[in-house]
Amino acid sequence: MKIILLGYMGSGKSTIGYSLSKSLNMPCIDLDEYIEDKENKTIKMIFSEQGEIYFRKKERFYLEELINKKDSFILALGGGTPCYYDNMDLINNSPLTISIYLKTDIDTLVIRLSNEKSKRPIIAGFTSDELLKEFIAKHIFERSYFYTKAQHIVNNVTLEKSIKQIENLLK
Ligand code: S3P
Repeated sequence: MKIILLGYMGSGKSTIGYSLSKSLNMPCIDLDEYIEDKENKTIKMIFSEQGEIYFRKKERFYLEELINKKDSFILALGGGTPCYYDNMDLINNSPLTISIYLKTDIDTLVIRLSNEKSKRPIIAGFTSDELLKEFIAKHIFERSYFYTKAQHIVNNVTLEKSIKQIENLLK
């Protein structure tokens, strides 16, 4: 069984993934960390040296590599992973795989991301929270088409409640 967590940057995919990993006794893989290990570069370096398109190709390549493994694990995607190529179809058509969208409100995302912009090239340039909020609102609107292809949507109010909801989903 593979549990795939998706959602916007700052929605807590990795935090929830690592926490579930303990309660479900399943390994958790963070796709960004997996790419960084394989490429021996940070995401920030890949974006600045090779550009976003190169990153998206690598992201697809490693997603496919992981999805094709027989192992069971929780996979925390990058915020943009669902929105490129047919990544959501690849995930949803893979046997014994469950995709979960962590739907998070914009104000929560702004608070969380405001101090964590530097390692995220897409939002690194914003100098005010007001502009960041405007960008996130528009970006989520565009990305929702892909995010809502997930098989389950969790209203991500607090990390604890989301973890409980996911555990219940799996019962
Ligand atoms: C991205 C999100 C990041 C990372 C890259 C691009 C995006 O992952 O994959 O910076 O396009 O939303 P997180 O959601 O883990 O920050």
